[in-house]
Amino acid sequence: MNPLMSTLQPYPFERLKELFSTVTPNPAYAPISLGIGEPRHATPQLVLDALAGATQALAAYPATAGLPQLRQACAGWVKRRYALDVDATTQVLPVNGSREALFSFAQTVVDPTRAGATVVCPNPFYQIYEGAALLAGAKPYYVPSDLALNFNVNWDTVPAEVWAKTQLLFVCSPGNPTGAVMPLSDWQKLFELSDKYGFVIASDECYSEIYFRDEPPLGGLEAAVKLGRSDFKNLVAFTSLSKRSNVPGMRSGFVAGDAAILKQFLLYRTYHGSAMSGMVQAASVAAWNDEAHVVANRAMYREKFAAVTPLLAEVMDVRLPDAGFYLWAAVPGGDDVAFARDLLAQYNVTVLPGSYLARDSQGVAGAKGFNPGAGRIRMALVAETAECLEAAQRIVQFTKSLAH
Ligand SMILES: Cc1ncc(COP(=O)(O)O)c(C=O)c1O
Repeated sequence: MNPLMSTLQPYPFERLKELFSTVTPNPAYAPISLGIGEPRHATPQLVLDALAGATQALAAYPATAGLPQLRQACAGWVKRRYALDVDATTQVLPVNGSREALFSFAQTVVDPTRAGATVVCPNPFYQIYEGAALLAGAKPYYVPSDLALNFNVNWDTVPAEVWAKTQLLFVCSPGNPTGAVMPLSDWQKLFELSDKYGFVIASDECYSEIYFRDEPPLGGLEAAVKLGRSDFKNLVAFTSLSKRSNVPGMRSGFVAGDAAILKQFLLYRTYHGSAMSGMVQAASVAAWNDEAHVVANRAMYREKFAAVTPLLAEVMDVRLPDAGFYLWAAVPGGDDVAFARDLLAQYNVTVLPGSYLARDSQGVAGAKGFNPGAGRIRMALVAETAECLEAAQRIVQFTKSLAH
């Protein structure tokens, strides 16, 4: 067996299952889960129709590079969304959702034979980054999100000797779980570091279309062009239909950026066997080419967050995020694990303890062993508004009961 397998950590939901194994939820309440970040709004009809109309594609092996019309549709979306040009032939590649792509990308770019191979991750973070780094033979280095920076990652805490060993950096903007959108000044900092130390930046942008401010979130490729890097040197952005178009089960997204890196990534993927089904490609073309359903989807999230956030803000430190579909709230008393456990027991509502999404941060002056997710919970507002409101009301009651 590959010895690196034993370095993988239990997934946050496994830890939650373990935590809840001794809890009997109050049967007086119907269960409501805000635990899992899986979109639950309806899949648009135009996507279903395109999928159903493409069954003939099953009779042939699809190409790993994808159909030219899919790559064009992705490039067209990048043009409309970010007002920038990517070459559909060399700078775009379809992927089966961003999760597998984030994982396989690390396997492509990391050289484990170089001493101290390091992958830098935000903290808290999407756990695939860690597993991808470990199985690529690298060590993850976790950089804490900082409340004082609107929950953005404090890249200044990373020592030069860590940057010197860094081969890959994961950026998650809009962030899961924080919802923070990384500002241009941080992009400038990271590009300068990438130039100096030669590492690759993987920019996970799967929440980019669900946002609450007037201005849409800044994308990595957009930041690069604004800073005069139109060749996207050492930068690859990961975009997904799962949240944008409510098709988490379709497994569709694309990567775009540095052509030289994508050439290697395509080669890796060819051996890995990760071509996208022709049916999914057809449905993806329809999804990328339509924006009306995305506007409607965003409006639903906005309405939901506008209703739920003020309710919860009465009893806990929580605010509307920049983007994404999570509330990232501080729990009274500061014990996120006990809060999640007791909330389930008393009110049958599931939330995710923030400490399960983070690791003890290294190298933060005076704060060794500090878990930047501790004391917070993540609530995914993916159900219908009425159900989320019901959950919020129960959380308010529960939190008020703690004060007595
Ligand atoms: C931060 C982040 N990145 C990537 C993904 C993977 O999404 P998908 O594989 O559906 O594109 C998720 C899914 O929850 C996520 O939260």
